[in-house]
Amino acid sequence: MSTLMAASNREGKKLNDVIFQAGAAVRQAIAQHGSDAVVNGTLGSFALDDGSVACLPVVEKLFHALPMNEFVCYAPPVGLPGYKDAVIHAIFADQQPDAFIDAVASAGGTGAVHMAIANYSEPGDAVLTSDWRWDAYGALCSEIGRNLQTFSLFDGQRHFNVPHFQAMVNAVCRMQDSLLIILNTPAHNPTGFSLSSDEWDAVIDVTLAQARKGKKMTILVDIAYIDYAGEKNDVRSFMKKFTGLPDNVLILFAFSMSKGYTLYGQRAGALAALSCSKGVIEEFHHVVTYSARAAWSNVNRGAMTILTMIQNDKALQQELEREQRTVFETIRKRSGIFIKEASECQLPALPYQSGFFISIPAHDSAAVCNHLHEDLIFAGPLAMGVRFAVCSVSADKMTGVAAKIKKAFDVVGE
Ligand SMILES: Cc1ncc(COP(=O)(O)O)c(C=O)c1O
Repeated sequence: MSTLMAASNREGKKLNDVIFQAGAAVRQAIAQHGSDAVVNGTLGSFALDDGSVACLPVVEKLFHALPMNEFVCYAPPVGLPGYKDAVIHAIFADQQPDAFIDAVASAGGTGAVHMAIANYSEPGDAVLTSDWRWDAYGALCSEIGRNLQTFSLFDGQRHFNVPHFQAMVNAVCRMQDSLLIILNTPAHNPTGFSLSSDEWDAVIDVTLAQARKGKKMTILVDIAYIDYAGEKNDVRSFMKKFTGLPDNVLILFAFSMSKGYTLYGQRAGALAALSCSKGVIEEFHHVVTYSARAAWSNVNRGAMTILTMIQNDKALQQELEREQRTVFETIRKRSGIFIKEASECQLPALPYQSGFFISIPAHDSAAVCNHLHEDLIFAGPLAMGVRFAVCSVSADKMTGVAAKIKKAFDVVGE
């Protein structure tokens, strides 16, 4: 059907967000059976054992103490003074490479991904990411006329698929003069996978080979889950590799306050850029600030103030890191139960290291998820498999879940 009043290029644009739909089914089940009976493995937020979305206490304390002007005043499109340095500190900790760096505020990590696509890929061109991926990348690309292409994240042994990554980078670069690659690591959504140091070396080698042929290469590292991936500097050690890169290789970071600071609804984040070229970073500042002004003008002032306060105060920073560590340990305990039981019942879950989700490949994930509803277990039916949120299910409720998922796989013939 052609469009009614919307412009013709909007034809067929309809959000089909399976995760939000799964959330609606959970709410219905809770209304009918009570929350104790329901296992909600659909949520993209860290939840307490009672299933309610958690807020880090230090963030809650600072938020409540904010003066009213932090809620009502505008902020500049680039972000509040001090926010840029706070973001850079939060991204790199002690792993900042020797390079020119800048950051511009964005409406969450989503906004950062949007600004990266808008400014570092050509209209009509392909943007590359892995087949297992955060679903929103597709809409973020197609909304502004880019085309998302994918490489296989895993090979037959379930290791990072360097040959296919290389093949896809080379194939796309034969068709276009520049390429934006999106890598969500560490603690990838939806698998919990993180690139190792050697795998990062391989990614950089493949990228440099194209840069030597004159292609403009940009890697966007989506670090939405980095604060729950392990020891702060260990999980950031790959960042030191971005030293001495040629001027036609740009590294971007999508920073989000949603997960690490439990401020999902406050919509604050940043796009950061790193290059050996001062000119590249000056250009980044101008084009990305322009995008911010045109997309949302400016973002949540209070959230930016909270990040700046924490990053500028050693005691607050330690408090935050202690609380993040508790969240990490809690998720580790929950995921540990799932992984142990999955291996006992031979449920072929993908290799999980850390993060909010574990995934299991399936041909008909919707059928598996529908079958699970009989046990009042709810999971996300993704195109490539079933995503289960280990961030939101208590250890008590987690016990037995893997076996029930295995049973659902068997029943639907997976
Ligand atoms: C992989 C990934 N990147 C980025 C985001 C962006 O989150 P937000 O826009 O809330 O900061 C999310 C949120 O779910 C995510 O899963």
